[in-house]
Amino acid sequence: MSGHLCPAIADLERVTAEHWQAADRGELGEWWLRAAGGFTGGANWALPLGDRGLPLAAAVDTVQAWYRSRELPAMVVVPRPLGPGGPSAAGAPCASLDRLLAARGWTIRSGPAIVMTAAIAGIGVHEAGVTVSLASEPSPDWLSIYRYRGQPPPDDALDLLLSAPWQAFATAVRDGRPAAVGRVSVAAGWAGIAAVEVAAEHRRGGLGTAVTMALAQAAAERGVDRVFLQVEEGNSAARALYARCGFRDVHAYHYRVAPAAPR
Ligand SMILES: CC(C)(COP(=O)(O)OP(=O)(O)OC[C@H]1O[C@@H](n2cnc3c(N)ncnc32)[C@H](O)[C@@H]1OP(=O)(O)O)[C@@H](O)C(=O)NCCC(=O)NCCS
Repeated sequence: MSGHLCPAIADLERVTAEHWQAADRGELGEWWLRAAGGFTGGANWALPLGDRGLPLAAAVDTVQAWYRSRELPAMVVVPRPLGPGGPSAAGAPCASLDRLLAARGWTIRSGPAIVMTAAIAGIGVHEAGVTVSLASEPSPDWLSIYRYRGQPPPDDALDLLLSAPWQAFATAVRDGRPAAVGRVSVAAGWAGIAAVEVAAEHRRGGLGTAVTMALAQAAAERGVDRVFLQVEEGNSAARALYARCGFRDVHAYHYRVAPAAPR
């Protein structure tokens, strides 16, 4: 693929936050705090990048108190470079923080993820044969297919789904019924693809590819030429799909979740 993109981890992490904007936001120096009632990791994390204006341990206490006051478990996203060394590798932006959280009993949430990027020009256009329609809001059909970590979305998911400056929702139909969906958003000069889901009985039939291509094309029509997505490290099906579409791994991240009782 031409145009493999490798932006700085911190830049890309901040971009992703513009695509999935929690209503409840705070700041601790340059750290960002987000809450949206617990739905999705990306809307309920502290992003610990930049100058926090406090010693590290005190900053973690402040983050924990912010979430406690909302009756939510405190969660911190820990971005890390790929390859050996993990979060402690040279150049890892959160190495000492990850060690401190581990020492305090913050556990790693299941499903660490990879951020992948692509140049939209390298993704291609899906072939005729699959009709993919696009809408500015998720329809009942779209919502009937969408899953987050295998579960249907809660009623208040709509606020987050519509939280980017611009987004579109793709639905592919097979045999007259919705069979696959996905969301694309545009913000901060990037497209973001999310919520790609193919109904179990329609997998391996090209719908995931068709939806991914249609979403990327919709973003290209908005004048954007690069796209990111986040995928669980262990989701080999999705990673294979995206790799075939031209995406490449850029960095990884995991979430550290505070123990239930403060220590
Ligand atoms: C991942 C997912 C979207 C793939 O959709 P799909 O319609 O089956 O994908 P496609 O048929 O377009 O597959 C394209 C290519 O991706 C790869 N691929 C897809 N599923 C795969 C699997 N289970 N194992 C290995 N490779 C796979 C293959 O290279 C495939 O090409 P091939 O069938 O010619 O070998 C689908 O499995 C799904 O909905 N999973 C649950 C939700 C999910 O994980 N979404 C992604 C969140 S980031």
